[in-house]
Amino acid sequence: MIKKIGRNDSCFCGSGKKYKKCCLNKKKARGDDPKKLYSRLYNINLKSKKDIEGIRQAGNLVVKTLNKAEKLIKDGVSTDYLDKIIHDFTIKNNAKPATLGYKGFPKSCCISVNEVVCHGVPGDKRIKDGDIVNIDITSILNGYYADASKTYFVGTPSKDAVKAVEIAKSSLIIGKNAVKPGNKVVDIGRAIQNYAEKNGCSVVRDFVGHGTGFDFHEEPQIPHFGRRQTGVEFVEGMVFTIEPMINLGTQEVKILSDGWTAVTKDGLLSAQFEQTLVVTENGCEALTPYDL
Ligand code: MF3
Ligand code: CO
Ligand code: CO
Repeated sequence: MIKKIGRNDSCFCGSGKKYKKCCLNKKKARGDDPKKLYSRLYNINLKSKKDIEGIRQAGNLVVKTLNKAEKLIKDGVSTDYLDKIIHDFTIKNNAKPATLGYKGFPKSCCISVNEVVCHGVPGDKRIKDGDIVNIDITSILNGYYADASKTYFVGTPSKDAVKAVEIAKSSLIIGKNAVKPGNKVVDIGRAIQNYAEKNGCSVVRDFVGHGTGFDFHEEPQIPHFGRRQTGVEFVEGMVFTIEPMINLGTQEVKILSDGWTAVTKDGLLSAQFEQTLVVTENGCEALTPYDL
């Protein structure tokens, strides 16, 4: 049972402030400019039409880059080779790879194979028939960020591989369906967790989706599981990612000694799909559009 929130309770949105000093104000401030309100209450930067167009351009490039990399995925190819193609294509299109040098990350994309959950660092490892390979690309074009990823099969997938990839893909679809003005951030996580667990999979807790567009990672956080503190309501112009990481076994992850690579604790498969979305009048639109 959920306790009704009191004026002096800490606010449900996770700000750490009292409810009366935080979201209760939202009601009083009705009629306020949502841009100012969201910035003040949640540190969320809503995007203008012009900003959204800029992020869309960056997003179109990310999808083109993913498509280019996809064509090269085959048994024997090194993840470094894919990274180089992604790097050069990004630069050729007057954009920058956001991950390169980000908090010391050494490469132009993340490539996460099999039990790697996310943040796989490209290197001389070769992909092989039967692998599942997530490629995660964030490009900065004219100052705007867009972030997307897909998981691909190499050659013939196992039954387990198909399961992980299909549930991860459907999780993204289900998350997107929860996005429309008036719904809340927590609705995404609730829907995804419910779906993935019903299908015998688990949802990673240690990494979440995020606001993006002006910066790589902005507020709000977008958990892919139900969490009480994520009561922020969607409004038009909110731009963020949904990027569920779905595991066949435990949800728990560990980080390898390179300080980046996150793997499942039990070594079982993990798959992920990510898109950058903007909240529209009736729902949301992908700014990194690809078929799901
Ligand atoms: N693209 C990842 C995300 O979806 C972030 C990668 S950060 C890196 O948020 F440093 F690992 F590259
Ligand atoms: Co992301
Ligand atoms: Co990403």
